[in-house]
Amino acid sequence: MQKHDMTWMLLISLMAFGSANAEDDAIHIRTLAASCAACHGTNGNSVGGTPVLAGLDQGHFTSQMLAFRSGERASTVMHRHAKGLTPAEIEQLAHYFAAQPRTAAITPTPVE
Ligand code: HEC
Repeated sequence: MQKHDMTWMLLISLMAFGSANAEDDAIHIRTLAASCAACHGTNGNSVGGTPVLAGLDQGHFTSQMLAFRSGERASTVMHRHAKGLTPAEIEQLAHYFAAQPRTAAITPTPVE
């Protein structure tokens, strides 16, 4: 085998490895985001009393999460969730929720 063939093989395997990791990251973030759905609704579209996360400004999301984490912003439950996340996960969740479309709350039509 030629030396440059070996180099190509190494490069291709490195690229495959890189994309597999990006895929794992995306799955990891979707799994984390799903754990927020119980209170913040599917894809951050809250229908209860909790804030809507869908389409939230990334900077606002991150600063609030870090404030919950440090205790700078008082919270009922969010400090516990924020403390379980790394700054990198918070960053990726901010990106994820900012990209989710906001859906209008569905108001049931009254039955006549
Ligand atoms: C047990 C219910 C619950 C879960 C689960 C939960 N949250 Fe929250 N979240 C709240 C409540 C309630 C608030 C209002 C602050 C408070 O009282 O803690 C809030 C506030 C927030 C805010 C501030 C929004 C703003 O505009 O000020 C962000 C951001 C947030 N949550 C993100 C998340 C993320 C990300 C997850 C998942 C990792 C998550 N939350 C899981 C209940 C929850």
